[in-house]
Amino acid sequence: MKYDALGVVLACTVCIMVDAAEIGGDSAFATPQVNIERLSAQLQHLATFSEVPFPAVTRVLFTEQDLQARRYVKDLMRSTGLTVREDAMGNIFGRWEGSSPELPAVATGSHTDAIPFAGLYDGCVGVLGAIEAVAALRATGFTPKRSIDVIMFTAEEPTRYGFGCVGSRAMAGVLSTATLDAAVDSVEEGGSFAKAAAKAGYGDSSNTHEDMIAACKLSSNNYSAFVELHIEQGPLLEQRGLSIGVVSAIAAPASLKVEFVGNGGHAGALLMPLRKDAGLAAAELQLAVEEHVLATRAIDTVGTAGLVTLHPGAINSVPRQAHLEIGGFPSPSPLMPCR
Ligand SMILES: *[C@@H]1O[C@H](CO)[C@@H](O)[C@H](O)[C@H]1NC(C)=O
Ligand SMILES: [Zn+2]
Repeated sequence: MKYDALGVVLACTVCIMVDAAEIGGDSAFATPQVNIERLSAQLQHLATFSEVPFPAVTRVLFTEQDLQARRYVKDLMRSTGLTVREDAMGNIFGRWEGSSPELPAVATGSHTDAIPFAGLYDGCVGVLGAIEAVAALRATGFTPKRSIDVIMFTAEEPTRYGFGCVGSRAMAGVLSTATLDAAVDSVEEGGSFAKAAAKAGYGDSSNTHEDMIAACKLSSNNYSAFVELHIEQGPLLEQRGLSIGVVSAIAAPASLKVEFVGNGGHAGALLMPLRKDAGLAAAELQLAVEEHVLATRAIDTVGTAGLVTLHPGAINSVPRQAHLEIGGFPSPSPLMPCR
C-alpha cells in the first residue's frame, strides 16, 4: 500500500473512533492529525525484526524476532502514554484510561507475528496504526469517556502451532486446553506453547495450558466495541482506487491434509501404463480445488494447496507418496459475484 493511501485509512480510523458514540468524551477539540512519516518509519523499523531480509518479514511466535517486535510495540505504547499489560499467553494491551474507566473499554488492534515472507503491513498496521491513532487523538487534548485498549494478539498466525488466533481465542474463552495440549511445535521439537511462553518470559516452568487459558479469558462484556484496521490483501480496493472499505463478514477458514500413496519406481524405466504416480494425483487434486472454488462464482471464495511434498522427491523417481495441505476460505458473502 502506498503511504498516502495508508494516511487516508488511518485518518478514517481516527474519524471512526472519534465519531463513535461509544467512546463519547468531550467534543470541542481539534481535528486529529496522523503522522504518516512517523508511522511509516515505525512500520519499517518493525519489519527489520525478521528472519529474512527487508522488506520481507518472517516473524514466528516467541522467536527472538517476535520478542524484539514485542519489546518495540510495548516501548511505543509506553511512549504514547499507554499503560502496558500482558496476559498469561502474551497478548499485549496498551490502555488509555478514559474518564469513566469502570465502563467496558473500546479495543482496537491486530497482530505482529508474520507468516514466512510476509509483507510489512499485515497485522502491523492494525497495531502501530492504532498506537498512532491514539497519539493523534491525545495530541488534540481529547479524553475518551471509555478507556481505549490497543491490543497486540498472540499468535494470530498458525505458523508455529498449526492453528491461528491463539491469543484472541483464549481471551474469548473459545480455546480448549485439549487443542493447546495437542498443538505440535514446529520450531522446537517436542516443545509446547506453555514451554515456549515461559522461555519468552510469560509465566515459568509451572505453566499449564489450562491455567494460562483460564487467566486470559475475559468476561463477555469486557469490551464494548472492537475495531481492527487491516490492509486489504484482495486487492480490490487498490484496483478500484478506494482508500478504505468496511468488512461486512468474516471468512471461515478450513484446512485439509491429504496423503496419496501410489507406487514408486525408476522414472527412466517404469512404463507409463503401469504407474500409479502419487505426484500426478496431487496435481489433479490441486486443479480440482481451483475448479471447485471458481465454480462457486463467489469472488471471495479461495482455495490454495500451499504445501505439496513428494516422496522420494527426486528427478529420477516416480513419486510414491504425495502430501498436500490445502487451505480454503469459503465466501462469507456469496452476494459478491465473480466478474
Ligand atoms: C476486563 O478484564 C480485565 C482483565 O481481567 C480487567 O482488568 C477489567 O477490569 C475488565 N473490565 C470490565 C469492564 O469488566
Ligand atoms: Zn493479518
